[in-house]
Amino acid sequence: MNDKRKSAKPPIIVLGASGRVGRVVAHQLLKANVGVRAVARHVDKLTELAEQGAELWSGSLLDQAFMNRVFAGAKAAFVLTPGDTLSPDLHDEQRQYNEHIVEAIRVAGLTHVVFLSSWGAELADRKGTIYGCYLMETLLNRLPDLNVVHLRAVWFMDNFIYSIGLIKMAGINGLSINPDFAFPCIDSRDIGMVAAAYLKQLDFTGKTIHYLQRPRDYTMSEVTAILGASIGRPSLRYLKFPKAVMINGLKSTGTISANVAQLLAETNERINSTSVHGEPRTAHNTTPTTLDEFARQKFAPAYLEAPAASVLQKIQGAFLRIYLFIS
Ligand SMILES: NC(=O)c1ccc[n+]([C@@H]2O[C@H](COP(=O)([O-])OP(=O)(O)OC[C@H]3O[C@@H](n4cnc5c(N)ncnc54)[C@H](OP(=O)(O)O)[C@@H]3O)[C@@H](O)[C@H]2O)c1
Repeated sequence: MNDKRKSAKPPIIVLGASGRVGRVVAHQLLKANVGVRAVARHVDKLTELAEQGAELWSGSLLDQAFMNRVFAGAKAAFVLTPGDTLSPDLHDEQRQYNEHIVEAIRVAGLTHVVFLSSWGAELADRKGTIYGCYLMETLLNRLPDLNVVHLRAVWFMDNFIYSIGLIKMAGINGLSINPDFAFPCIDSRDIGMVAAAYLKQLDFTGKTIHYLQRPRDYTMSEVTAILGASIGRPSLRYLKFPKAVMINGLKSTGTISANVAQLLAETNERINSTSVHGEPRTAHNTTPTTLDEFARQKFAPAYLEAPAASVLQKIQGAFLRIYLFIS
């Protein structure tokens, strides 16, 4: 553990500090001379934050004694509900993370929390991957003295990076979202900036919901055209996957369990059915990064870095393409 403190004030806890959003939160706080207690299991991914003065706390959210030590003496935190893509029961895992985090907040008597929530967090049914955010908002709202902002972020643009393997293998982009349905997305960096702004000020009160989305909606066909152009494949096509094909495709990567694949497909269905939706756009809920900027700054470099598909993968990709074209 690195013990360098940035200021005399209690440090702010940042869970998931090596993740896409938590890393930005931690960097922004440190830049503003606010002390940070950076938490993740794999401390090697946090060395950059330690160099800037963060305390590093390595351990699992599922270890209550560890969590109570992390939260002791703090007043404010950025929290999230992570999910293991290989989980046999993601909702149960999310429930456990939430309960441990909330117990640590309660024991330490935190006054301010920013929670990375999600669009659709108002939905209490157990469909899709978002249910964990519904659970967490409910638990946090039950702490009477806690001031909390639920940042209800829409679909992360960063999710499109997971399609790179498919593009290299089959020369197409695909999900089970309808091709012509326009929906909102956001760059994860913009969420981190908003979370850090709240935590620097610490002037929010009560229980608040703050939606966050990018400047305009795009259909998957438009998304694919923009991503394709950024990697020199302007004619890249989007094909909607039937649910079963999407689930099998996700499972076949070996990095996604049957349960998580099913829940991800359900989230796509929710988007199609508009049961998950953002808010009408306002200056307050609109973040700056456009899809073109994301494509240039994150997607294209990730595409360049990713390995080429093997011959076997290309053969599988060709079969998949034929199947999708004729089905
Ligand atoms: N993707 C979307 O479209 C979307 C939309 C709205 C909201 N969200 C929310 O965004 C969240 C994910 O945020 P993100 O993308 O910033 O995260 P991320 O990049 O997936 O990183 C997860 C972070 O949590 C840490 N972590 C995971 N399991 C842990 C455990 N058991 N104990 C301690 N730390 C653990 C990871 O570090 P270690 O692995 O080293 O522990 C890492 O720092 C999810 O909760 C989701 O609900 C996502």
